[in-house]
Amino acid sequence: MFLPLICSLWLFATSSSGIEYSNNSLCKDENYEVHWRFENNTETFYFKVRAKATGWIGFGVSRLLWPENETLRWNMYSMRHYDVLVGGVDDSGKKYFKDFMTNGHVAPKEDGHADWNVSNIIESNGTTTMEFSRKKDTGDANDDNVIEPGLRRMVCAYHDTVDYNISMSKFTKHTWNGYEDIEFIEKPKEKAVLAYRATEPPTTGASTLAVSIVGHLLLIVIAVIFFY
Ligand code: HEM
Repeated sequence: MFLPLICSLWLFATSSSGIEYSNNSLCKDENYEVHWRFENNTETFYFKVRAKATGWIGFGVSRLLWPENETLRWNMYSMRHYDVLVGGVDDSGKKYFKDFMTNGHVAPKEDGHADWNVSNIIESNGTTTMEFSRKKDTGDANDDNVIEPGLRRMVCAYHDTVDYNISMSKFTKHTWNGYEDIEFIEKPKEKAVLAYRATEPPTTGASTLAVSIVGHLLLIVIAVIFFY
């Protein structure tokens, strides 16, 4: 009885600021929820990410580097060109967040220009929830990825207990990571081209022969009746 209620609450999650998130994903793990909404007129994404962790939580989008190469397409297993936001609430209750661009399986470097706008971070009951927005194209081509229509890869990670050390810019590797390929913005469908046949279909040899035989038979019958 309660399951449908819980499901509908999850499907139509709203933010504290009243934003209704129309899309959801688990980033392949039930301990990590992603809710989002894209606003067309402002070309802005609104996200809400919730993870079962009290350490740092991270969310981002991978760059489509080799679209034609199925294995390499998303820089698979390289942790390269992931445009990510990392945030949390530290042990003193201070909220923090930072914008990063990853460059391999090492602690990523801070992006000089912060383009993820964080509106809220809450840690409660062993769970951290972060709400933020970001332009589809931030205009920072070096440090950010454009979230184009069509399939994109979301990347997710967290550390169960250890926070990002903001004063020392010190990162501790995730205890969990995941990813999911998703259409953040639907790719416009290609219009079907209707073939238009300008001329009548040609008649086959068999049908022409049948018409001519019937025509001749009719002429013979008329002639016989006439002369009889
Ligand atoms: C101190 C910081 C980080 C270190 C040292 C690190 C290191 C690594 C390593 C060694 C792997 C290979 C698999 C494994 O050993 O688990 C990996 C995978 C992964 N990491 Fe990180 N990571 C860091 C931060 C992040 C952040 C902030 C994110 C995204 C929010 C992230 C997302 C991923 C993902 C999605 C994978 C799996 C796919 C892949 O290998 O590219 N990592 N990371």
